[in-house]
Amino acid sequence: MQKKLAKGIIVIFGASGDLTARKLMPAIFSLYQQKDLSKNNIILGVSRTAFSDESFRQKMQETLSEEYPKDKKAIEKFLKQVFYQEIDVYTDDGYRSLHKRLQLLCKVHELQHNFLFYLSTPPSLYYEIPVHLANLGLSDESGGYKRIIIEKPFGTDEESACALNSHLLRNYRESQLFRIDHYLGKETVQNLLVFRFANAIFEPLWNAAHIDNVQIYTNEEIGLGSRAGYYDQNGAIRDMIQNHLLQLLGIVAMEPPAKMDAYSIRNETLKVFQSIRRFKSAEDIRQNVVVGQYQEGCVKGVIKGAYKDEQGVAKSSTTETYAAIRFFIDNWRWHDVPFYVRTGKRLNQRVSEVVINFKPTPHPFFSQVQKISKFKNQLVIRIQPDEGIKLSFAAKEPGSGFKTHEVDMGFYYSDFAQKEMPTAYERLILDALQGDNTLFARNDAVEACWNIIDPIIHYLHKNGKTMLSFYPSGSFGPLESDKMLAELGHAWRNPSSVFKQNKKDKNT
Ligand code: BG6
Repeated sequence: MQKKLAKGIIVIFGASGDLTARKLMPAIFSLYQQKDLSKNNIILGVSRTAFSDESFRQKMQETLSEEYPKDKKAIEKFLKQVFYQEIDVYTDDGYRSLHKRLQLLCKVHELQHNFLFYLSTPPSLYYEIPVHLANLGLSDESGGYKRIIIEKPFGTDEESACALNSHLLRNYRESQLFRIDHYLGKETVQNLLVFRFANAIFEPLWNAAHIDNVQIYTNEEIGLGSRAGYYDQNGAIRDMIQNHLLQLLGIVAMEPPAKMDAYSIRNETLKVFQSIRRFKSAEDIRQNVVVGQYQEGCVKGVIKGAYKDEQGVAKSSTTETYAAIRFFIDNWRWHDVPFYVRTGKRLNQRVSEVVINFKPTPHPFFSQVQKISKFKNQLVIRIQPDEGIKLSFAAKEPGSGFKTHEVDMGFYYSDFAQKEMPTAYERLILDALQGDNTLFARNDAVEACWNIIDPIIHYLHKNGKTMLSFYPSGSFGPLESDKMLAELGHAWRNPSSVFKQNKKDKNT
């Protein structure tokens, strides 16, 4: 049962930024609409931009009205509990005025000193802000909880992530820190846990004896947008694989936890990260990693320019906008099963899936009759869009002989017609308010994920140019990626754009 929320304040640093308007405020408003939040939860936006409470509310009203055009009255009511504080986050004075404001708000609204600080700021401030808050006693939980949500990127490699962790842990306990990975907040990702551990029929098959290969990918149609400054320094592996896709892999590959609680679940995903085979040599990397960069091409009928022509990107940039990596997990369950992980921008379709390709039957009886290749069952967990789960199997075509046909059984979230899917941010903000950090990344897991990725990043830093393949915008990505799978007799699933109607679904 959902816990009743304690009265308190959500303090958003970086309140004038894009994330606050696009994701955070709409998520908080939606929690308010569903009565998870009440008038006892105040929101205080904080940034360097000069706003009054009123002008900040006005700005939020504009974005919320776009998202929720039918809820104008509710938005107005909600915004009465939204406030704004302008501060210079680099000065002690700034934090003193923030502290005063928090005390005043608590007094006027009769709130306990429960504060959830959301750091939606440039990462350099992940050092600055928490230490200033702690200096003012705002890490001390004796008068109410003090929690910090930290956006990604959490470090840029293992060393910087470790340094940031130890910096934060000097003033805060791990249970006060919420390293957000919005993929873990996606409903379909959480359903993976239920699918695996609430159904007895899949778990006996969930291992190297029955599974041939696993594919985990997020393909995007969008390009860089206005994020050149961040993206060109980071690239697809840091942006998507080190965090979102490895977290997904952790859930797909983990052992059943002792309990469904934060500690046990996070212990099991950590073990997966620790068991992932490390890339030890240049040859390892060249064999198991493909990186690419988009060139001009046509996405859904519209011509899009090359990455190098994006504003803010150097013509000589070797940053990867596409990456595919073949991982192996060195444990009993997954011995020699390839886990193919892929992400890319400006691909032909926006789709995120986990695909479990099972091994063919030991005796290919019907294949011999039909002279077709061995049939493999496939389980597809569609993370987005058209969220759902589909299992394909062979069925006999009506008529004489044994002509088999691939059919599937499916579950689609859209069938839960009465329920709207909560956004990832809604779920995660609510969890943080409740003090539940199950769906947030723990310090050791973040460090382990960097440890996996670091050798690749370091190698690419020196040899990026020679490794980089190019792909036209709107395509499936570089051909080298298909070749990597073909080496072991595998192929990427080719998803149809509509998951529910399976007729056009083509399994390659
Ligand atoms: C973000 C990345 O974390 O995730 C973006 O920085 C990416 O580059 C985004 O576009 C993808 O998230 P989603 O939820 O749209 O799949």
